[in-house]
Amino acid sequence: MVNRRQKTATYERVMQEIEATLDGETDLLAAMVTVTCLLHQAFDSYFWTGFYRRVGAEQLLIGPYQGTLGCLHITFDRGVCGACARGQQTIIVPDVHQFPGHIACDPHSKSEIVVPVFDRAGQLIAVFDVDSDQYNAFDEVDQQFLERIMAWLACFDPSPVVLATSTH
Ligand code: SME
Repeated sequence: MVNRRQKTATYERVMQEIEATLDGETDLLAAMVTVTCLLHQAFDSYFWTGFYRRVGAEQLLIGPYQGTLGCLHITFDRGVCGACARGQQTIIVPDVHQFPGHIACDPHSKSEIVVPVFDRAGQLIAVFDVDSDQYNAFDEVDQQFLERIMAWLACFDPSPVVLATSTH
């Protein structure tokens, strides 16, 4: 298990890497992909790292992630991600087997943290889910840094949808 000082130092380094990589970038999807990649690479305890995007009143759909195959759709009434989306607050689960309704996408997952993501207007647009293959992997240090990173995502613009392109 990573101690709090090591963890803090790693988050500070990763935040610098994220900011340097995204310097001048405005696209939200590019930001989500970068955040996912750099956080996932930084911590051995991060087993599954990624976003579920809000695509309906009470619907989440898989977003950028790293790790083993994640389930695609989660409704607000299911799992830790659903509970986070419903309550719009960070949830830390020290032992996923004790969380009623936890969705076991991968049996190696033992603990997790899920952080809500809001846009500039304060609307929930996604949740950020990190699963660990160790029990009790997340604490208020993770919460503090991940909430800071997620709050920063509100500065980015939703990615444009290109409906049709033609070279003819
Ligand atoms: N941990 C989630 C399910 C998603 S995955 O583990 C990738 C949950 O119970 O909400």
